[in-house]
Amino acid sequence: MMQTVSALGQSAGLAPAEARLDQRDFARVAAIVGREARIALQPTKATLVFSRLSRRLREHGLESFGQYLSLVESDAVERAAMVEALTTNHTHFFREDHHFDHFKAAVLGELQDRARAGHPVRLWSAGCSSGEEVYSLVMCMLGTSRSEARWATDGDVKLLATDLSARVVAAARKAVYSEATVKPIPEAYRRQWLREEGNDFAVVDDARRFVTARELNLFGEWPMRQQYDVIFCRNVMIYFDDTATSELIARFSRLLRPGGYLYIGHSERLIGPGADVLKNCGQTIYRKEGSGQ
Ligand SMILES: C[S@@+](CC[C@H](N)C(=O)[O-])C[C@H]1O[C@@H](n2cnc3c(N)ncnc32)[C@H](O)[C@@H]1O
Repeated sequence: MMQTVSALGQSAGLAPAEARLDQRDFARVAAIVGREARIALQPTKATLVFSRLSRRLREHGLESFGQYLSLVESDAVERAAMVEALTTNHTHFFREDHHFDHFKAAVLGELQDRARAGHPVRLWSAGCSSGEEVYSLVMCMLGTSRSEARWATDGDVKLLATDLSARVVAAARKAVYSEATVKPIPEAYRRQWLREEGNDFAVVDDARRFVTARELNLFGEWPMRQQYDVIFCRNVMIYFDDTATSELIARFSRLLRPGGYLYIGHSERLIGPGADVLKNCGQTIYRKEGSGQ
């Protein structure tokens, strides 16, 4: 059972001057986040909810979570801000690097053939956070020289990067990262696809131009009009319950072209009817049945 959380991490009654998040407040927060983003907020997250939302209370000059939640329930802008504040955006370049190794060894050649044959090539980083995932993919795609990248430059190749959070989408669009953040990028890619910008590093336009970053709730309407070759949706479904995950996998499986690939996070699994057409072909990597050509 969840305990009331206060600024001092104490139970109800011990810090009367502080705003406190009781079970009823938490249930209201969980209901809103579940409805808006299908995020299943567990009671173990009460401290996180408290600290992230305390900031929003202060910004609005409110004294209790009850007042804040009444505001959230009546104001769509604050509702979106609350959901955004409760997302976990942890990511890094070349996270779960076996996925990128697999992409280069088993997928890239086929994408190059398709692009050279005049087919569109489409990749999606779904739940992209601040963009490290999608630019890792771009670098794998482009290789370590401009000439290696020519198939993509000359072809119809596009990557979509989407997230619920406007803040991280803006960061993905900007594509400027700190020195510590770019450390996991192999040196040969760094030299080719990053340039120094003050103390930071920017993804060069020749790489960035393949990426469209936009806000998208995965449970809303999707903008794509054609099938996708590759979908990365990693460390996103862990926040959803089984019903939401199964709905999402069914949509991914429809969006993928036959022979297309889905990469998911290390602690995630495929469930529901969509999983029937996705065959495991590596650690947390799945390929849609069909010829692929
Ligand atoms: C932990 S990050 C994962 C980032 C990246 N895919 C990776 O593996 O490094 C999870 C992302 O999913 C996003 N997210 C959560 N619920 C979402 C939803 N319903 N629609 C779209 N994005 C969502 C969050 O905003 C967050 O940026």
